[in-house]
Amino acid sequence: MDRIVVLDFGSQYSHLICRRIREANVYCELLPHDTPAKLLREIEPKGIIISGGPASIYVEGSPKPDYGIFDLGIPILGICYGHQLIVDRFGGKIRKSTVREYGSSNLVIDDHDGLFSNINGNIRCWMSHSDTAELIPKGFDVLAHTDSSSSAAIVNRNKKLFGIQFHPEVLHTERGTEILKNFSFQISGAAPTWNMKDYLEKTILEIQRSVGSNRVMCAVSGGIDSTTVAVLLHRAVGNNLRCVFVNHGLLRVGEEELVVQTFERVLNIPLLVVNASERFITRLTGITDPEEKRMIIGDEFARVFSDVASEHGPFQWLAQGTLYPDIIESGVSGGPASVIKSHHNVKGLPKWLNLKVIEPLSTLYKDEVKRLAVALGIPAQLLKRHPFPGPGLAVRIVGEVNIEKIRIARESSKIVEDELMAEGWYDKVWQAYVAVGDDKAVGVIGDGRLYGHIAIIRVVDSVDAMTADWVRLPHNLIAKISNRISNEVEGVTWVTYAVSSKPPATIEPQ
Ligand code: XMP
Repeated sequence: MDRIVVLDFGSQYSHLICRRIREANVYCELLPHDTPAKLLREIEPKGIIISGGPASIYVEGSPKPDYGIFDLGIPILGICYGHQLIVDRFGGKIRKSTVREYGSSNLVIDDHDGLFSNINGNIRCWMSHSDTAELIPKGFDVLAHTDSSSSAAIVNRNKKLFGIQFHPEVLHTERGTEILKNFSFQISGAAPTWNMKDYLEKTILEIQRSVGSNRVMCAVSGGIDSTTVAVLLHRAVGNNLRCVFVNHGLLRVGEEELVVQTFERVLNIPLLVVNASERFITRLTGITDPEEKRMIIGDEFARVFSDVASEHGPFQWLAQGTLYPDIIESGVSGGPASVIKSHHNVKGLPKWLNLKVIEPLSTLYKDEVKRLAVALGIPAQLLKRHPFPGPGLAVRIVGEVNIEKIRIARESSKIVEDELMAEGWYDKVWQAYVAVGDDKAVGVIGDGRLYGHIAIIRVVDSVDAMTADWVRLPHNLIAKISNRISNEVEGVTWVTYAVSSKPPATIEPQ
């Protein structure tokens, strides 16, 4: 399958480049900035994109690729830092700009062939840089300019090297997708062969090849990711799959019943249910640090799986619903991305479990998993459910996880979900729940004073959980939810609404 590779120099937009190209049905992957040219020659990408990044090329120690990539004969597009890197490498000059060009600029296209083909006139483009090319290298021509960048897009036709100072991947750049498509199709000659049906068939064959007649244990949570993994594996290995649902006591209201019913009655996949609430809650007692909580939960999951393996095994494989952003966000990709949160399903798996891990979704983004789930015939009712984190309510409870806070988070979240459904908002938002911490506030319940908990309503919108914004719910709806929580959930005196977007906040508070 044809592919484009993005070398990640740490730009916050690197993932977006990847996604835009995949949206054009070309498989695209993000690799560390210093991926050896030898490896790239083996992978045989049709094109290479050098991403932007926070560094300045003229500063000592700034990240560089393996310069052998320029001898592979593969078309290369440098974006922002990538553009400067090409200029620098081929003898041009980059200097600190007197005006920092940030935001929207008018791009005057001087050459409508190749990178800008089918784009008539000039376009608005999104710039974010403080370095600029003072001198472009010999053999390069200018394709476009702005008022402050005389060489906002350049090309060396012989070497098939392109550099653009702006970001075509962000929606603020008009026709940006077109530019990336021109690079992928016209310049690199990639065929648009990446689609879910083919991915599905290929993945099933790959699973069958790796697993053979071995047995696989698959932990399911009822969420889209693990359900998709389970259905995929069931198709691939049939009865050699054992699905396990662990109730860790940190679930939403009615979750266990719903998951059991869906698996057994709708998907026709047998399910083993393990009630492990007590052991999880016991281990979480006294723990307040968010990362420590996640590690403990990951470890306890592994212990439960180990017990299941002793009783129902032997198993040789453990299937997990790890996604592409989980790998990148947990900092295990080797790229410049730092650890944001340790998602429990990436790092929490100790060696002693002695199971090989199969992660059939680890190259997919969340929206792609949804498309795969549809291709697998997973019922729409399940696909419409909001994502729920593996560590469950523990990541929605700030401070120590205890029975009272679990009850408050669970009961209040149910009210939020019900009210959003009743008003037609549930399907319009990404996630909606209530978080609770240790901050308390005085209230008056009946005739008495109560020093009670603060319920924090969090409703966010997102397309892939990489970024998110808080949802501007109608005030009347917030008022209704607030009233119901105060009246129906014992121990809550105040209700607040979280108004932080991601970034700088994250979707879950822990
Ligand atoms: P954050 O809080 O990182 O969440 O903005 C992004 C998305 O990931 C979910 N999430 C998790 N899912 N294991 C999971 O399976 C985890 O440890 C985990 N932490 C966060 C979160 O609900 C949101 O959809």
